Amino acid sequence: MCGIVGFIGSKNAKDVLLNGLEKLEYRGYDSAGIALLNHNEVYVVKEKGRIADLSEKVAENAFGEVGIGHTRWATHGKPSHENAHPHQSTSGRFTMVHNGVIENYSLLKEEYLKEATFISDTDTEVIVQLVEKFVEEGLNTESALRKTLSLLHGSYAISLIDKEDSQTLYAAKSKSPLLIGKGEGFNVIASDAMAALKETDQFIEIMDGEMVILTRSGVQILSAEGEEIERAAYTATIDATDIEKGTYPHYMLKEIDEQPAVTRRIIQSYQNEDGELTVEQPILDAILEADRVHIIACGTSYHAGLVGKNLIEKLAHIPVEVHVSSEFGYNMPLLSERPLFLFITQSGETADSRQVLVKVKEMGYKTLTLTNVSGSTLDREADHAMYLFAGPEIAVASTKAYTAQIAVLSILAVTLGREKGIAAAKELDLAVELGIVATAMEAMVASKELVEHIAGEFLATTRNAFFLGRSVDYFVAMEAALKLKEISYIQAEGFASGELKHGTIALIEDETPVLAIVTQENINWNIRGNVNEVLARGANACVFAMEGLEQPEDRLVIPHVHPLLTSLASVIPCQLLAYYAALHRECDVDKPRNLAKSVTVE
Ligand code: M6R
Repeated sequence: MCGIVGFIGSKNAKDVLLNGLEKLEYRGYDSAGIALLNHNEVYVVKEKGRIADLSEKVAENAFGEVGIGHTRWATHGKPSHENAHPHQSTSGRFTMVHNGVIENYSLLKEEYLKEATFISDTDTEVIVQLVEKFVEEGLNTESALRKTLSLLHGSYAISLIDKEDSQTLYAAKSKSPLLIGKGEGFNVIASDAMAALKETDQFIEIMDGEMVILTRSGVQILSAEGEEIERAAYTATIDATDIEKGTYPHYMLKEIDEQPAVTRRIIQSYQNEDGELTVEQPILDAILEADRVHIIACGTSYHAGLVGKNLIEKLAHIPVEVHVSSEFGYNMPLLSERPLFLFITQSGETADSRQVLVKVKEMGYKTLTLTNVSGSTLDREADHAMYLFAGPEIAVASTKAYTAQIAVLSILAVTLGREKGIAAAKELDLAVELGIVATAMEAMVASKELVEHIAGEFLATTRNAFFLGRSVDYFVAMEAALKLKEISYIQAEGFASGELKHGTIALIEDETPVLAIVTQENINWNIRGNVNEVLARGANACVFAMEGLEQPEDRLVIPHVHPLLTSLASVIPCQLLAYYAALHRECDVDKPRNLAKSVTVE
């Protein structure tokens, strides 16, 4: 979490930093700050709250051709002015921004910095104080930073300015994302290319353990031992207009609306010249050689993984287990002889998933990442990668990435099944079925008025809500509940509806909202039985049903799609429900409290 941007050039860094931070705000929005270096004077301004609050506080005439900026998601110390970045060493010579978690910061403080005065509760202040200490002991800034980095345990992306040197900007990274943006007569560093796209489309990766020294015209990448590393720049393919809201009031609504187009883009991206859906042969071979697939993911990506298991098992007859990343790494189940690990991650930066990737790679297992962000950490570090082609997802609440993940997993499942000669896969014209899904999605995104009304009726004032489903609808119920709680702060749970009577039904009171999703014929009557049970106990119940299964009292009918692909359509009214519930309750839809888009700490 947290976003970093830094600039060195021959214009005012202020605007570059504020514009960059705005683009990085999805990474954290507890507090923000910038530092500008101008002729050996450092101007630091920071503010609790959003980038807009910071911008108001920055003096109009603030100037510096070198600068660093930060938007924070608190890990050490509460969100406050004191804990906001940048942080400075005692003398004020060094100023630093940092993303990540330094696990041994208390030990370092105790061992090296007994005499130093600390202003904040952050681990970052320890890093910047260490640099100053080693400079005071006689090292130059580069060596002092190198020595400091060698002592750190944990994750970091940092940028540092030295008041006595306005020709240099320092940066380093380990396990937290950071990129160099290369320009003519200037250079930038940023946690995400999006923050620097206005300045350049040329980027250079920084690898873990490396340190970077930027001047206006030069980029020097150094290994932990100080050896120079040559690395070519690549051209970023993100379209700057993709990261704008356009006429939409919120990114979330824009991203919900993009789902039919994303589904069609996925079909095209995975089609060969003959119009057949294909996946690279080495990926298929790696999975076919495995005796079990372990899907590793968090949050919404985990929910997509549950649907993916269903697809791969039904269409390719390969056993699949789905695990929450943060649990798997520290309590591994008994593994089969030849497992393959499939990481599902929109951002490709999620630390919980990455810790599993690192462990299973050490154990010698094959890995595949399914991500939306080419060049991200999990993309680079896995043996194989597949992409979502969903375009940048900015809203914290994931929507189009979820449906893109399921669509790509369906393509993977069907191509695996075909390789194995499984009839269910051979008989399925997936390109056509996904096209039908895209049309159904269009109908669902057009149901805004109805869903807004339902959200007002069921969710405007409630304390809690329940989503019910069975089989694949249960997985969508879990996703619907996550979406609702994360942006509307309503306590919501997704249940396998048959399980309600085993305890949870005790929570049903008069007017408790219960929303049931019904898309599978074989469980239609079971789930309706469960809905009757909660109605009998006073619940305010409502059913979203697939065309062909609907009953007169159902509130929303989902156009018919292939039974294995229903989640792609049924999730959309649930996303809209969460969106409108959040609006009814005047919540900040795109930046819900306590959250950040990219979760880069464990
Ligand atoms: O980038 P990832 O897919 O790895 O992120 C995983 C979760 O943090 C993410 O899906 C989160 O649950 C979303 N905010 C849910 O809307």
